[in-house]
Amino acid sequence: MYHFNYQVYQERREIFLSKLNGKAAIIPGANLVQHHSDCEYPFRQNSDFWYLTGFDEPNAIALFLSHKSKGEKFILFVNPKEVNSEVWNGFRWGVEGAENIFKAEKAHSVDKFDELLPSYLEGTEEIVFAVGKNPIIEKIILETWANQLQNSSRIGFAPNSIKSPSIYLNDMRILKSNYEIERMREAVQISAEAHELARNNISQKNNERQVQGLIEGFFLEKGARGPAYNSIVASGDNACVLHYTSNNSELKQGDLLLVDAGCSLNDYYNGDITRTFPINGKFSGEQRAIYEIILEAQKHAINNVVPGVSTNYIHMQALKILINGLKEIHLLSGDTDGIIETGSYRHLYMHKTGHWLGLDVHDVGAYRLGDYEVPLESGMILTVEPGIYISDRLAVPKGQPEIDQRWKGIGIRIEDDVLVRNEVPEVLSKAALKEISDLEI
Ligand code: GLY
Ligand code: MN
Ligand code: MN
Repeated sequence: MYHFNYQVYQERREIFLSKLNGKAAIIPGANLVQHHSDCEYPFRQNSDFWYLTGFDEPNAIALFLSHKSKGEKFILFVNPKEVNSEVWNGFRWGVEGAENIFKAEKAHSVDKFDELLPSYLEGTEEIVFAVGKNPIIEKIILETWANQLQNSSRIGFAPNSIKSPSIYLNDMRILKSNYEIERMREAVQISAEAHELARNNISQKNNERQVQGLIEGFFLEKGARGPAYNSIVASGDNACVLHYTSNNSELKQGDLLLVDAGCSLNDYYNGDITRTFPINGKFSGEQRAIYEIILEAQKHAINNVVPGVSTNYIHMQALKILINGLKEIHLLSGDTDGIIETGSYRHLYMHKTGHWLGLDVHDVGAYRLGDYEVPLESGMILTVEPGIYISDRLAVPKGQPEIDQRWKGIGIRIEDDVLVRNEVPEVLSKAALKEISDLEI
């Protein structure tokens, strides 16, 4: 269960401010997004803003002023308290709450942002702000900056560049603290239990949407905010559409069901798990053959989640097993290295084997920097999610075997969430079973 503890955020701010080393960072929170008419999507805070503040209201902006003295470094602009708005849309912490609870050293109403920004930037040499994401705030910042540049000879200073906050924040967010690892354990455990619930109740369901309802209802029952991303509940050939989210086909006996779903907790930590199982509890020969290849590839890849190797190395470990397995059943042919080099497996496996996982489902952090592949470190969390998708959507590359009809419509992915440890990797999602003997009845 999440309880706001300001110290978690204060510690992060201290590290961020020391990395800023004289720069002024402006990190806007998220705004509400219109769904239709005067209805909005559920509010989703910006992850960087959340990471540094724990403040969960729309329209807020945080300043981190490492060039200022103690007591003037963390500033919040927030929606002010306002009876009418609160009657219609709910409680606001207001300026006082921002200071007293969220420990802003100074807070203001957000409509004072353009008026107060120039003096807060005074004395900094560089601005830190993510350009291209928030046009309204960006316009205010650029106008303020342009003004200061124009008048620098008179006022005696002007920032000389804008840098991206990701330079500082990604390195922090990619390495999960012990506190975050516990939060991730909870997110992933709830997600895994939802997968078990779905499989154990599949005989009572006859449409993908009902499975989605069961899973997402479980997330809410467990106190999560809801799904971390649009749940994918894809039966039969639908599973070959990687981001299938219409989730409204009838479940057919003899088909597989691919479920890619994870919850988002109140503090936005996310699970991301995929399981694929036979709707009637029995794999066909073809389904079993493909499943076994992917399971072997996935387990081997997970065993290689150790400090020092790159995500690309893990991908290559999985890829080689997938290709060799597909060669054995004559869905690919030729030399494995040659197939990798020419990409002539991509009609069957068209994505990478995983991604960082955290406050964002595809979490921040580089996988490579130029030719340098970022090595895994203890405390990182990533998904390992090989799959095979056999359909007519993509043409068979020249030189590769045509695919017999009996394989078509098989789409399988197995996705776990894995914590890098110095000793052995820890599969956070192990409560979601994946052995064939677990999935058959
Ligand atoms: N559910 C999104 C992904 O697996 O990357
Ligand atoms: Mn994933
Ligand atoms: Mn997924």
